[in-house]
Amino acid sequence: MKDDDELCLCFHVTKRKVKQFIRVHQPTVPSQLSDCYGAGTGCGWCRPFLKRLMEQPDTDATQLPDPDAYATNRRQYRQRKK
Ligand code: FES
Repeated sequence: MKDDDELCLCFHVTKRKVKQFIRVHQPTVPSQLSDCYGAGTGCGWCRPFLKRLMEQPDTDATQLPDPDAYATNRRQYRQRKK
């Protein structure tokens, strides 16, 4: 996943925006990332990834999933929740 890929697909929040938010606001709990354009407040799929990024802000592209696989897995996640 590159910095311009969407980390929160529900609200179209890119990884870059989340990293910038973390750098500037230094949240102490993952729920505070909801102040970053609503990240994580939709289906919930991205929450573990938001948490991982918060805990390891220098996480490089190889430690987050490929964007296509990420979107496909989210679709399956949402279908399971129905
Ligand atoms: S992908 Fe972030 S809340 Fe759905």
